[in-house]
Amino acid sequence: MIEKKQSYRQDVAFVGMKKELAGLKLYIDKEPSEILFIHGPKSSGKTTLLYKFLEQIHSEQKLNVKFLDLRETFTNVYEDFLKTFFRVETTGEKKETLSSNINVGFFKIDASIEKKILEKRADPFKVMEAELLELTQKGIKPVLIIDELQALEKIYLDNDKERQLVTALFNFFVAMTKESHLAHILIASSDGYFLNTVYNDSKLKKCSEFFKVDYLKKEDVMEWLLNLEKYSKIKDYTLSESDAEKIWDTVGGSMWEIQLILAGLFSEPIDDVLSLYKKKIKGMIEYNIGTDMRKEKILEVFLEKETAHVKDFIHREIPAGELEKLLQDMVRNNILYFDPTEAVYYPQGKSYLWGIRLYFELAA
Ligand SMILES: Nc1ncnc2c1ncn2[C@@H]1O[C@H](COP(=O)(O)OP(=O)(O)OP(=O)(O)O)[C@@H](O)[C@H]1O
Ligand SMILES: [Mg+2]
Repeated sequence: MIEKKQSYRQDVAFVGMKKELAGLKLYIDKEPSEILFIHGPKSSGKTTLLYKFLEQIHSEQKLNVKFLDLRETFTNVYEDFLKTFFRVETTGEKKETLSSNINVGFFKIDASIEKKILEKRADPFKVMEAELLELTQKGIKPVLIIDELQALEKIYLDNDKERQLVTALFNFFVAMTKESHLAHILIASSDGYFLNTVYNDSKLKKCSEFFKVDYLKKEDVMEWLLNLEKYSKIKDYTLSESDAEKIWDTVGGSMWEIQLILAGLFSEPIDDVLSLYKKKIKGMIEYNIGTDMRKEKILEVFLEKETAHVKDFIHREIPAGELEKLLQDMVRNNILYFDPTEAVYYPQGKSYLWGIRLYFELAA
């Protein structure tokens, strides 16, 4: 039977990100000397960028990529960590692939080592180091990627013992980059607040660099929206410059939201799609605030300014001890983004600013 290639009325696009792709290339072309922390608001394209980068570089360089997606929730760091990072090799096992041509690697161990590690009679870091060394000696660059680091946040903050293991892992990463230059290590998360905590706890200053992946710039959005067939394979409709401006005005460069709006345009007029979308975001904001008027006070700040520092929230009748926790909660729930390099907070995207404005108009 001949397999039919699926065709859709709208495809997933890949727009812009030239500077970011070049930045990652520079990092890989340099002898490993620091950890790269990839941060940026929710759905800013961090994972997509990493995949694209690996696809591009795979044909040019001999890499051994270990891509660890921590999306699942961790309960017991030591055991879950081992299950995620190490695999007992079995013969004939099909290789897992990240995309059509990138294999996902794990640290391969045999059953006896696994038993020893689980019983804590062998040091997993030594096993990792030995494999990294072996690869380097074969002329292969090991690249370790940890995506969705925020999955570790809860156990990290709630449990001292678990925190020690995560810190030990980061200290191992420092040793592999800054000290022995054995592997490139990239860590991605949309929770800048948590990245900052890990960064400070593991004494990562001078051993790591922050790399921001943000929503698209206006020129990239306009290029996309005015060439829908080229980027999204959409043939059913085209957009005028003023339509494109309206979309930019509503969701800015947030690609995931742009895709959603484009899908809506197959059946509804643009003004309806956009106004309904703003109302939806207002609903989300309302839901997050709930009955907690302290959160309302926090969001009120963004009626006056686009970004805010901690001190901007202080004079809002919220006790200082509660403020940190509230901000952390709003970052964790992707209402606000915290940029760890500048220590500023801001709503996750342009649509959230609309949601906040609508919320206050109604609340008034
Ligand atoms: N360069 C791009 N051009 C167009 N669309 C993109 C681009 N990058 C990502 N997207 C789309 O945006 C959405 C989010 O992308 P992705 O999951 O990579 O973001 P993320 O930053 O990893 O999200 P999270 O914060 O949840 O980890 C996806 O639907 C993806 O197809
Ligand atoms: Mg991601």
